[in-house]
This record gives sequence, structure tokens and C-alpha cells, in this order.
Amino acid sequence: MLNPERHDWFTGDLIEVLPGAVYVCDADGVVVAYNRRAGELWGRRPKPGDTDQKYCGSHKLFRPDGTHLPHSETPMEWVLRTGERACDQEAIVERPDGSRVPVLVNIAPLFDRDGALIGAVNCFQDLSVQKLAEEERARAEAELRLARRELAQGARRATAAATTAAIAHEVQQPLAAIVANASAGLRWLNRPQPDLGEACCALERIMSNGRRASEVVQSVMGMFSGDNQEGTLVDTNKLVRDTIALLGSDLEATSIVVDLELFPELPPVYGHRSHLQQIILNIITNATDAMRTVNNRTRLLRVKSAIVNPNRMMLSFEDSGTGIDPKNLERIFDPFFTTKAKGMGMGLAICRSIVEAHGGNLAVSPGIPHGSVFKLLCHSQDTPAKFKLWNFGLHALFDSLRSPAISYED
Ligand SMILES: Nc1ncnc2c1ncn2[C@@H]1O[C@H](COP(=O)(O)OP(=O)(O)OP(=O)(O)O)[C@@H](O)[C@H]1O
Ligand SMILES: [Mg+2]
Repeated sequence: MLNPERHDWFTGDLIEVLPGAVYVCDADGVVVAYNRRAGELWGRRPKPGDTDQKYCGSHKLFRPDGTHLPHSETPMEWVLRTGERACDQEAIVERPDGSRVPVLVNIAPLFDRDGALIGAVNCFQDLSVQKLAEEERARAEAELRLARRELAQGARRATAAATTAAIAHEVQQPLAAIVANASAGLRWLNRPQPDLGEACCALERIMSNGRRASEVVQSVMGMFSGDNQEGTLVDTNKLVRDTIALLGSDLEATSIVVDLELFPELPPVYGHRSHLQQIILNIITNATDAMRTVNNRTRLLRVKSAIVNPNRMMLSFEDSGTGIDPKNLERIFDPFFTTKAKGMGMGLAICRSIVEAHGGNLAVSPGIPHGSVFKLLCHSQDTPAKFKLWNFGLHALFDSLRSPAISYED
């Protein structure tokens, strides 16, 4: 039989100096002793030895899932019944005032010298601070996850916006050319004496612009299916001439004089023809826009090709337009940067992405005395192994819009 008087550590200083809450039950489950900390956690001070107070001195107990835990089903009852230890079990103590404290329970059985079970000691500790810290951590993690998801969604939206803008930008030009050539073709046919030759030329231009629009769409579709597009050897001088022919009516309508200084022995460049053509088109379109308002000098577009060292090719585009405000010089390559009322600000961003996908670079400098100079440097006769083109060169553009540290998964 457990006699608290004979076990003076129950009632003496030892039980009080223990850091946690401690109480002792006899073999019948009667609470025979407890320390001050236990009384604080229970929110009450039951009379030791009160036979109504069995297995625990608390007012009420709950399981961690919130269901009621009768005193007769507590770990203390189990320890006294089995003589086993109960380790690290969680429960919730409810005080008489209704406040609740989560606790961690450890119970050891007590035996006399003959090995008979005479009671058990329960050391339990307040988990409130730890639980609060866990909840705080869980909340912080949830907030972080939410912030990351929002950032990722923002990045996705930016990518989607750039994709849409890029497609619209690149498709818009051939579509406009198709409409212009179709109406020109109709005019040639509707004359009293139809000019079939001119009408055929207009139809041919419609065909080549239609093909170009379809290539753009295919490139973008390929990009989403993750295909890599192989390049071919491209004759850049021919590409410049073809592109100028394609833009012929625009250049004529804006009274632009084109001066070609193309190096005759220019070696081919390894790349994607329609992507490289996109660069030339965008740069010349910008030059045309910049010269549209110039009336006091010749509107001159000079395109030069050259070899700058044994394996580098340079294309330069000089215009006599309004020039670029020095404070905007670096920003003009940013997606969506534009100074035009109806501009999208995608042309140069697309150009730079394509050039970089080709392992080259594109730079701008002020023209002397007027206008701007765009210089495109590319490896000549590179081998297919050296670079594989991502479709349309837009991957680099999209990558630049994505936040690198963002994971798209939780
Ligand atoms: N040759 C040039 N002369 C003067 N400014 C230029 C020239 N090329 C580009 N810019 C400036 O760079 C900006 C960005 O050009 P970009 O081609 O990226 O977009 P945009 O021409 O404004 O619109 P879009 O998306 O329709 O091409 C232009 O708005 C213009 O201010
Ligand atoms: Mg442009």
C-alpha cells in the first residue's frame, strides 16, 4: 500500500523543485500527492487522498482530437492496470474556468520491494508555448506558401502576357501586309485595263506574308510542345535583301532611301531563317517609325554587313531618325518598354532574345550626327552542335520574365 507519509519525497521539497507538474496516485488511482505546478495546470487544488478524485486531479480531460477523455480512461488508469509505463502521451486539461492547457504526459508505475504495484507517478508538462510556436510556424509556412503561389501566379501571368504580346506583335505585321497587298491587288484588277502582272506580284506578297505568319504560329506552338528547332546555314546578305523587298511598299510610302553596303564574301550564319528575319524586320520597322517625322534631311536607312573577326559577322542598321533619348538607351530592350502611342514595346525584346538564342548580341548606339545605330554580332558558320535554338528565341525572353527563385509547386 502506498503511504505518502512513508515516501516523504512526495510531500517534501523534491516534488516541488521538479521543473514540471507531478502527481502521484495509489494503486486504486486515488490522487495522494501533487506539486504546486500540477495544481496550477489543473486550475484547482483537490484534497490529496480524496477517494472521489481518481487518476487525475483535473476538472476535465480531452484527447488531442478534442473528444472527451473520461478520468477512468486516462493513461494513469492504464498504467495502474498494466504496470507498464506511459510515455509522451498528449492530452488537454480543462480548468474549472473553462480554459484549456495541452499537456504531455509521462507516467511511471511504482512498485514496493516485493514487486507489488503500489501506485504511479505522472510527470506532465504544459505544451501551450510549444503548441503556439508550432501553430505560429505552421501559419508562417502557410503564409510563405501563399506568397510563393501568388508570386508564381504573377510570374505565370507575366509569361502569359509576354506570350500573347509576342504572338500578337509578330503576327500583326504579316497580317497588315496581307490586307494591304490584297487591297492593292484588287485595285490592279478593278482597273478598266486590269494589270495582271501587278496583281500577281501582290498575290505573291500575300503568299509570303501568309507563310511568315504561319511560321510564327508554328514556332510558338512548337515552343509549347517543347520542341527544339534545328537551324540551317543562312545567307544573311540575301536575308537582308529579301526582307527589304518584303517591306518595300512601307519603305517607299515613307520615302526612305535604302543604302545597302553588304560584304560580298559574307560566310553564312547558322541559325533559324525566319527568326533572324524577325530581327531585321523589327529593327527596320523601328527605323521607319523613327524617320516618319523627319522632314529636314534625307530619311536614310543604311544596312551594312561585315566580318569583324575570322568567325564573327556583323550587321548594322543606321537610320537618320529622331534618335533615342540617352536615358532610355538600356530600357529599349525591356519587354513592354515603348515611347509610341500604339507600340507594344515587344519588338526589341524579341530581337534580343532571338539574337541571344543564336549566341550573338545586339547593341544600340547614337547615330552621328542623327538617328540610331543597331549592331548585331553573330558567329558565322557555327556548327549545329554549338547551339540548338529554342523555338522563336522566346524562351530566353520568358525566362527573363520569370522569377528564378520561384517554384511552381507548393
Ligand atoms: N531606330 C530607332 N530610333 C529611335 N527610337 C527607337 C528606335 N528603335 C527603337 N526605338 C525606341 O525603342 C522603343 C522600343 O522599341 P520596340 O521595338 O521594342 O517597341 P515599339 O516599337 O515601341 O513597339 P512594338 O512592340 O510595336 O515594336 C521604341 O518605343 C522607341 O522609343
Ligand atoms: Mg518596334
